Amino acid sequence: MQNSTLFGKTYFIRTFGCQMNMHDSERVSGLLDSCGCLEVADPADADIVVFMTCCVREAADTRLYGQCSSCKSLPVPPGGRRVIAVGGCIAQRDGAGLLTNLDNVDVIFGTASIAHVAELLEQAFADGEAHVRCEERDDTPATAMPWHRAERYRAWVPIMTGCNNFCSYCIVPFVRGREKSRDMDEIVDEVTGLARVGVREITLLGQNVNSYGRDLFGAPRFAELLRRLGDTGIERIFFTSSHPKDLLPETIDAMAEVPAVMPQLHLAVQSGSSRILKLMNRKYTREQYLDLIDRVRDRIPDIALSTDIIVGFPGETEEDFLETLSLAERVGYAQAFTFIYSRREGTPAARIADDTPREVILDRFNRLVHVIEDSAYAFNQHDLGHVVPVLVEGTSKKDETKLLGKSPKNQTVHAPLPVGVRIEDLIGRIVDVKVDDARTWYLSGTVVGSPR
Ligand code: SAM
Ligand code: SF4
Ligand code: F3S
Repeated sequence: MQNSTLFGKTYFIRTFGCQMNMHDSERVSGLLDSCGCLEVADPADADIVVFMTCCVREAADTRLYGQCSSCKSLPVPPGGRRVIAVGGCIAQRDGAGLLTNLDNVDVIFGTASIAHVAELLEQAFADGEAHVRCEERDDTPATAMPWHRAERYRAWVPIMTGCNNFCSYCIVPFVRGREKSRDMDEIVDEVTGLARVGVREITLLGQNVNSYGRDLFGAPRFAELLRRLGDTGIERIFFTSSHPKDLLPETIDAMAEVPAVMPQLHLAVQSGSSRILKLMNRKYTREQYLDLIDRVRDRIPDIALSTDIIVGFPGETEEDFLETLSLAERVGYAQAFTFIYSRREGTPAARIADDTPREVILDRFNRLVHVIEDSAYAFNQHDLGHVVPVLVEGTSKKDETKLLGKSPKNQTVHAPLPVGVRIEDLIGRIVDVKVDDARTWYLSGTVVGSPR
């Protein structure tokens, strides 16, 4: 697209929400780069500002309004005009309706219309009008879009879009549509290609990767996908998210048997109370979840388990919450993302009346955070004295003399840079670190042996 009228323009992208949105931003960047645009780190320097939005919680919604209005006070760019584009889940949900409240937005593109972002921007620059495109379904295969990967050694690989689960609190199925799996050969070819160009780690993305293939083959075939990806030469495979109701025994077997699948599993529980789980429409009980955890640990004893938990679902009692606390203690999570329930208009839970005072919910949230911190600390102690292979990402933000990377269990690891070694020569390589300190959110130690 060298003859694009966007040629030479600068752009800035800010992304909110989940990895799916982060990956969508990589596609937007890829398309803009292919038009000859240049990414900049500061919106003040940009001719094009893109917000990739999220609406999973109310705070994310509110932030977009703040961000758009703060663009009004930016200096006019050298080209004389700045175009503001809004993509992602709020764009998909509200479409042209966003223009009522956001009077400085020029382009709105939904999650299924990313392929059209360049032409929408071109039109906006040409006529000064607002341009909106929010299709229901995406007919452009992901592989047909260029892709700007932030890092050369790891990549996100979406294997499916949408969600069929309709958890009663969640807006995602309403904005991202139903589950649609990518062709298995296409994914395997893409990952083989990534391994060939030096990518060492991939994270497979989907709202519920365990049901990958159900729409294509009538039954999930995620285990088969993991086994095939294990033969591509990629060294580390992570995936997210897994819905407990669809985690099949053959998937646990594949995780245990394919060396490239890392010993890490994100299995969102949301609540430890079977009563609340029913109201959430999660389709498993506390006992079934705990049984699943036992089965996973049976096959992969040192697995790092992480989860998502919502506190303050409408009608949650102290007894319900205590069940969440005891479940978290029993599982011993290595990490957990904890959220305060946020009412989302249009979801079934939004109709459930609730008068739990805010202070009670905040107090529960803090108690849960303490339990998670304790279990994360205890989990990390197991690695004290061990040698851990670390994929190096860069230096620590606080101390540039220390390298920072990730272990196979997705733990953050710090170690002093070996004498005479530049970080540029280590990024994307794996170094062995002997762990001599284990904290709640990181391990630290000393590099032993040579990078590979
Ligand atoms: N599909 C993933 C799964 O089920 O594991 C979750 C995707 S969602 C983007 C990430 C997390 O946001 C959910 O697991 C849930 O904990 C949280 N979440 C979703 N809707 C929420 C709401 N209305 N209020 C608070 N947290 C919410
Ligand atoms: Fe939302 Fe549930 Fe789908 Fe996850 S599985 S995206 S929480 S509806
Ligand atoms: Fe948010 Fe959309 Fe992801 S609502 S969490 S960006 S799927």
